[in-house]
Amino acid sequence: MAGPRAKDGILDMPAYVGGRHSIDGVAETFKMSANENPLGASPLALAALQQPGDPSLYPDGEAAQLRAALAELNGLKAEQIVCGNGSDEILHLLAQAYLQSGDEILHTQHAFLIYKLASRAAGAQPIEVAETDLTANVDALLAAVSEKTKIVFLANPNNPTGTMISADEVTRLHAGLPDDVLLLLDGAYAEYVDPAVYPAGFDMVEAHDNVVVTRTFSKAYGLAALRLGWGYCPPAIADVLNRLRGPFNVNQLALQAGLEALKDQAHIADSRAHNHQWRDWLVQQIGGLGLTVRTTQANFILVSFDSPQTAAAAEEFMCAQGVIPRGLVAYGLPTSLRLSVGTEAGNRAAVAALQAFVVRGGNE
Ligand SMILES: Cc1ncc(COP(=O)(O)O)c(C=O)c1O
Repeated sequence: MAGPRAKDGILDMPAYVGGRHSIDGVAETFKMSANENPLGASPLALAALQQPGDPSLYPDGEAAQLRAALAELNGLKAEQIVCGNGSDEILHLLAQAYLQSGDEILHTQHAFLIYKLASRAAGAQPIEVAETDLTANVDALLAAVSEKTKIVFLANPNNPTGTMISADEVTRLHAGLPDDVLLLLDGAYAEYVDPAVYPAGFDMVEAHDNVVVTRTFSKAYGLAALRLGWGYCPPAIADVLNRLRGPFNVNQLALQAGLEALKDQAHIADSRAHNHQWRDWLVQQIGGLGLTVRTTQANFILVSFDSPQTAAAAEEFMCAQGVIPRGLVAYGLPTSLRLSVGTEAGNRAAVAALQAFVVRGGNE
């Protein structure tokens, strides 16, 4: 067939497949596959959505109010914040702006898939770097840097392993990189970590020209459907992204709801507390079933089985019971399932489903 031909890198990758959200024939489901906030969005954000304003008008393409609020909350410079249609968009923009054919990017062994997809789409080659006990290995990352390396992507905490490296380790990683290699610190799960110990990295953005931090409203802020994220960038990188992005890349409802959500830090604290309580409960209960379970620094846990076949069978069994976990074959963890911390009812249903699976002899 003739017709336009997409760039090679694009056709080298499968399309991103997200967590399942419904199960045929099962009326009531608990979606625990996409790390969304089981407490939902702040009531302030929901109220803002009831007042959509005039949809015939373009939104503020500068996202000025939202950037000012983000700057104030986090002690940052508003002009260095770039908002995106989800933090995914910021990742894609960075890849488009800084990668071309022949370049390489580094990502950890079990990294968020968008790093690979965005880099391939820009013609670059993703290089997977081995982890130690499912945790980013700074020495291995530094050893993998070549003159082709342009970006190092690090989610901290990481999805789907949920592990986090310390501020010292992040600093050591940066210190070992050449000045022209961009270090991308993805803080999608930042709000779930105790703020007193979280290595946010904003200070590194201010001190260096080659560090960008991304954040999202999709997880703890409970606004995944609206697609809102942002990056904190050195001035030159913010300038590049602002030239490249669509002029109205963030829609009006996202701007309004995001602004209100930021005012409700009590909701974030409640979400963090709910997560801690039920994450610990899930680990304890599922461990008690004799299954291998790992806690994380984020809003999900990992449950492991004796083979990929058993993990797949457990996924199907749980789905049939109305509990939807995330299979991790695409992430290179075929014997594990990722289970987002849910509502109390969802968490109890997940444990009951796993218990029934074990009782049937599913993990033998
Ligand atoms: C590590 C990580 N980064 C970024 C994202 C993207 O989030 P969004 O585009 O919804 O802001 C996700 C979503 O799952 C994630 O897990």
